[in-house]
Amino acid sequence: MTSTDLPRSEVNIDWNNLGFSYIRTDYRYLAHWRDGAWQAGELTGDNVLHISEGSTALHYGQQCFEGLKAYRCKDGSINLFRADQNAARMSRSCERLLMPEVPAEMFIEACKQVVKANEHFIPPYGTGGSLYLRPFVIGVGDNIGVRSAPEFIFSVFAIPVGPYFKGGLVPTNFVTSMYDRAAPNGTGAAKVGGNYAASLLPGAEAKKRHFGDVIYLDPATHTKIEEVGSANFFAITKDGKKFVTPKSPSILPSITKYSLLHLAEKRMGLQVEEGDVYIDQLDQYGEAGACGTAAVVTPIGGIQNGDDFHVFYSETEVGPITRRLYDELVGIQYGDKDAPEGWII
Ligand code: COI
Repeated sequence: MTSTDLPRSEVNIDWNNLGFSYIRTDYRYLAHWRDGAWQAGELTGDNVLHISEGSTALHYGQQCFEGLKAYRCKDGSINLFRADQNAARMSRSCERLLMPEVPAEMFIEACKQVVKANEHFIPPYGTGGSLYLRPFVIGVGDNIGVRSAPEFIFSVFAIPVGPYFKGGLVPTNFVTSMYDRAAPNGTGAAKVGGNYAASLLPGAEAKKRHFGDVIYLDPATHTKIEEVGSANFFAITKDGKKFVTPKSPSILPSITKYSLLHLAEKRMGLQVEEGDVYIDQLDQYGEAGACGTAAVVTPIGGIQNGDDFHVFYSETEVGPITRRLYDELVGIQYGDKDAPEGWII
């Protein structure tokens, strides 16, 4: 049976008011790694995993995940954005946590199957929504010592989503924190749950103070901006000529960030730089934003750092360069603009 012949549930979703929360869709992909190899994976309707209580994912955080999106285009076709980059990043995360890599072909095939089987959950063109895919690898099987798991699970599920930060392309304020997200030579560059677990408390404190999220500073000196935790950071110099984004071994290499670096340079004629963004020198930037698969391009209104609140472009209006970056990126994702070679499946 092909995935398009699978029984489908009735979908009753208000597409124009989607946020970013779990919605159970019909099918997910599941594959096991046993006896030194990935076994054939398949689609399943069951959204519950039955795993050993000794699973390393539960105790020692041996797991990683990805996030990518499928988009409904104007002509009804479906675009999957830069899935090869997510496959490559997940391989690096698996390597870092001593887990078997998922071959890129298997990763992409799994994503395609999940998108096709849940096609009826893809938000219609024009609503601004998309189908968010969450691939993950977890260490499972009977274990208790701090060592790599005897077995692994690779799974991909999908949920229809709208904006991650309230309002989408609306300025959001962020706040620095005394907490670090990751250690200088730790797992910051890998997409592993531990980084996100470490961000829960500072994130909750930030939200209690009505900020969208935390801006993490570099863990060694606390003088440079690293990332948002749920997204990367970029800024535009006041003269509007340069796109700058932090470079550090402890931030997650965002695929959206690298896409924006490319578009800023090749399509908008900006100078681009991965470098240092000092928290006490924000005056040189006229615009700033958070970027990521979930966050897309979220304009940053201002950053609170201790007693200092720095506003970039405006707390209510979107800066022109941020808007253009958003339009270029989203235009490609929904098939309205030509995509650079290999960006769209
Ligand atoms: C993504 O943008 O895909 C992310 O992983 C952010 C997420 C933690 C919500």
